[in-house]
Amino acid sequence: MLSMITVVVAVGTLVIAGQAQADGKLVFDQVCSKCHRTGVLNAPIAGNKTAWEPRVRSGRDKLYESVINGKNDMPPKGGKDHLSDEDVKAAVDYMVDLAGL
Ligand code: HEC
Repeated sequence: MLSMITVVVAVGTLVIAGQAQADGKLVFDQVCSKCHRTGVLNAPIAGNKTAWEPRVRSGRDKLYESVINGKNDMPPKGGKDHLSDEDVKAAVDYMVDLAGL
């Protein structure tokens, strides 16, 4: 019985983890990809390790902050105020993962 509960909890955790990953991708596809897929306004291109490495070096918290508050040509939250901070962070994580960093 106890092992049955363990299995249920483990599967539940996996589902939640999968969900968080999917949200980052969704936000990226719907909002961030407009600039970050092709490099509009010189945005660092998603998946380009060379473009992302120096930025990631300053720490993810710094990157989250840049997107939440905006940075130069990037408007706050990519111009979508309805996004929560969690959405933004998931999308940043997704992009950093795409760069293999
Ligand atoms: C209107 C175009 C545009 C959109 C939409 C956009 N970005 Fe950006 N992004 C930029 C540009 C341009 C830069 C480069 C800013 C700079 O360093 O001067 C940038 C930089 C960044 C950086 C690096 C910040 C740093 O401190 O080096 C991150 C992380 C980032 N964007 C994430 C996102 C996320 C996540 C989204 C979606 C929620 C998003 N961007 C949407 C244009 C955009």
